Amino acid sequence: MMVSSYHSFLGMAFISLYLIHSAYTSDVYIVYLGNNVQDHILTSNYHVNLLSSVFSSQEDARRSIIYSYKHSFSGFSAKINSTQAATLTRIKGVMSVFKSQILMLHTTRSWDFMGLNLDPTVDQADPLQMTYGDNTVVGLFDTGVWPESKSFHEEPNMHPIPSTWRGECVQGQDFDPRTACNLKLIGARYYLKGYEQEYGPLNTNVTSEYRSPRDANGHGTHTASTAVGSTVKAASFFGFAQGTARGGAPRARLAVYKVCWEEGKCSEADTLAAFDDAIHDGVNVISASFGSPPPLLPFYDRSSDIGAFHAMQKGISVIFSAGNNGPDPSLVLNVAPWATCVGASSIDRNFPTQMLLDNSLSFTGESFNTKHIEANLVAARSHFRGGICRVDRWRNNRATGRVILCFSTQGGVQIEEAEVAAYIANATGLIFVDSPTRQYVDVDIIPTIRVDMIQGTKMNIYLSQSLINVTKVHIFPSKTVIKQSPAPVVAEFSSRGPNSLSPDILKPDITAPGIGILAAWPPAISPTSTSIDQRSVEWNFLSGTSMSCPHVSGVVALIKSVHPDWSPAAIKSALMTTAHNRDMNHDTIISSGTNEESTAFDIGAGHINPLKAMDPGLVYDMKPDDYILFLCNNGYTIDQIKRIITLTPGTTITCPKQPTTNTNLNYPSITVSSLQSTVTIKRTVKNVSGKKTAIYIASIVSPHGVVITVWPRILFFTYYNDEISYYVTLTPQKVSQGRYDYGEIVWSDGFHTVRSPLVVCVNTTTNIHESFQAI
Ligand SMILES: *[C@@H]1O[C@H](CO)[C@@H](O)[C@H](O)[C@H]1NC(C)=O
Ligand SMILES: *[C@@H]1O[C@H](CO)[C@@H](O)[C@H](O)[C@H]1NC(C)=O
Ligand SMILES: *[C@@H]1O[C@H](CO)[C@@H](O)[C@H](O)[C@H]1NC(C)=O
Ligand SMILES: *[C@@H]1O[C@H](CO)[C@@H](O)[C@H](O)[C@H]1NC(C)=O
Ligand SMILES: *[C@@H]1O[C@H](CO)[C@@H](O)[C@H](O)[C@H]1NC(C)=O
Ligand SMILES: *[C@@H]1O[C@H](CO)[C@@H](O)[C@H](O)[C@H]1NC(C)=O
Repeated sequence: MMVSSYHSFLGMAFISLYLIHSAYTSDVYIVYLGNNVQDHILTSNYHVNLLSSVFSSQEDARRSIIYSYKHSFSGFSAKINSTQAATLTRIKGVMSVFKSQILMLHTTRSWDFMGLNLDPTVDQADPLQMTYGDNTVVGLFDTGVWPESKSFHEEPNMHPIPSTWRGECVQGQDFDPRTACNLKLIGARYYLKGYEQEYGPLNTNVTSEYRSPRDANGHGTHTASTAVGSTVKAASFFGFAQGTARGGAPRARLAVYKVCWEEGKCSEADTLAAFDDAIHDGVNVISASFGSPPPLLPFYDRSSDIGAFHAMQKGISVIFSAGNNGPDPSLVLNVAPWATCVGASSIDRNFPTQMLLDNSLSFTGESFNTKHIEANLVAARSHFRGGICRVDRWRNNRATGRVILCFSTQGGVQIEEAEVAAYIANATGLIFVDSPTRQYVDVDIIPTIRVDMIQGTKMNIYLSQSLINVTKVHIFPSKTVIKQSPAPVVAEFSSRGPNSLSPDILKPDITAPGIGILAAWPPAISPTSTSIDQRSVEWNFLSGTSMSCPHVSGVVALIKSVHPDWSPAAIKSALMTTAHNRDMNHDTIISSGTNEESTAFDIGAGHINPLKAMDPGLVYDMKPDDYILFLCNNGYTIDQIKRIITLTPGTTITCPKQPTTNTNLNYPSITVSSLQSTVTIKRTVKNVSGKKTAIYIASIVSPHGVVITVWPRILFFTYYNDEISYYVTLTPQKVSQGRYDYGEIVWSDGFHTVRSPLVVCVNTTTNIHESFQAI
């Protein structure tokens, strides 16, 4: 409002903008006090009093406060400037003050982010369709929920809501708790204050958002139904992937925490409030498919890592997505060892689409094409300058009745851009050629068939040779086929290790299905999330680590319901040590895109194996103290560590004088990021199988250039002895730097296979004197 009066004078305008800027330099900060104060009202008052010390009045302080975190830990978020933040840091009792960041949801689609998710029925573990899950609550941190979706109807004969549940189903815009919540959807809250501080008040007149737990995006409905959706018969997307849809734990309860808004932006201040409530409400599992892009911040500056630590201390498993920044190395997110980080891989389903050129040449691509299309095929250059299929290259030459052949390589065009361009040109369809050898289908705004470079090249040559004539193309309706190998294959977009924050902890931990996942979708939102798409669907395909994360959350809910006393570390261990490291043909799992063999940096311990994870035989367990030692070894000070943990009143923490590497953290995988000389690592395994006798024998695959010995080689578990430690000695045998080598340690009793991936980077140099003598 001030700018307009200076419009005529540039210099003044500049000054006024500068003034406006400095007047608005307040940002959302999270002020963290660590210890939980018992009385909630006292805690809130304490927060206001504390904040008043940097304001002229208590009233101003009260206005600036956004959330008072008071259930599971103490702290608050407030809109303050950097001077105030710095002052607060120096106040006794304040553990840390950090700026609230914006997190993004982890779907692959760049436009209006949509995902692709396929229905777990056909592909996953029918035997798990048990009555299990009934006694567990999964908390979903996402864009909310579409409560009318059949996935959130009650399953038959559900028990009453667990008596330990303290959550709420809150009233809001188009969200009536009396009709929205039931024995399935038992909690629904929304967190908007942090988001509004960053982006201004939510205007529900111009966006389709709801000021309530209702999902205006689709992502939250999709992930929730993947984790815990009830069984729904005859789900499909226009007939594709027809089958019974259900979540991993179809009888588990759902509690929705809406922290992400509009296109999937989530404020850390809101996220921390959701952790505070969810822990207090009594969830058993938290599923969160978001993160902020690299570089990674220290654990004490990230609300999700802090929230996850508190959750872990209360026995709650936290499952995060790894991010969609692959396939380049070192971009994996959400790397805290007390949470589980999930990468994405494919399932064994394809949607082949046959094409016929001039009734003679046959090609196959991937699509969700529903009808028989007969049209003229034209090269991109007839409609787009330079053959670059982008709206800004359109020649204004309509392609009505034609199918356009586009190459991603011409102008580095993304498929979404090409679809929009073809749509603007009024084309009948698009054939999109891209470099990965295997194409994965997605939901499109116009009929789009994905083909690989070899077929695309043939089509292109045929087209250019018959330039003077017309090339007819027939495109036939796509088919749904299953049991297609290779599968699983690691998704190209799935973020890869090594872990850039703590390289001695392998991340991602595990992969799960995250390509072409069919799950529930709000009928009010088009399947492509675009306004030009007029379709309304109840089920939609999405892809992303956002989709693989809730698969794991569902499986964790099942394990939790069978083994309620297992710690989050034990459950993660069960997932990891039983994961598949081979595909359905018993070959090494490959990486999509490059078609090369995957490594532990792509798949972590491997692809999730839900049935085996229920009965892993042995687990690598950990307690909060183990993670505190990890934080010490990370070089954090006691004050920094106190920002992350909940300290029981009256207790203190100490770090050993000499920090060591983190290779001794009792993690289910072993990573040595710099092996300079012989190192011995300790691991402790705990018997959790019901068998009366348990004798485990080790087998080892040594990484190249490293000698591995394990002692003892045999573990005898008895009634009196349920935990046994063993030692792994690694000796470098080569002069090498910067090269990672991979091996494994497997314990087996003949029934259970307890596998840990082993990643070693030998870091040795030739002794210069010795080499001179040798010459
Ligand atoms: C920060 O806010 C305080 C209190 O409103 C004010 O006195 C101070 O000048 C501000 N500092 C900056 C750098 O804006
Ligand atoms: C939204 O629309 C209503 C009715 O047209 C109007 O009264 C209200 O002021 C609008 N709100 C905003 C934030 O524009
Ligand atoms: C777009 O294509 C449709 C048929 O596919 C046709 O009816 C329509 O006239 C075309 N529009 C323009 C502007 O060319
Ligand atoms: C195109 O090909 C058909 C059949 O091969 C032929 O009959 C027709 O004359 C050709 N048209 C042109 C313009 O070359
Ligand atoms: C490799 O070893 C050298 C010392 O020999 C050390 O300075 C360097 O940091 C090590 N590299 C890694 C990746 O740890
Ligand atoms: C292993 O642990 C399970 C459960 O903790 C117990 O039932 C079983 O007897 C134990 N086996 C041995 C050999 O101690």
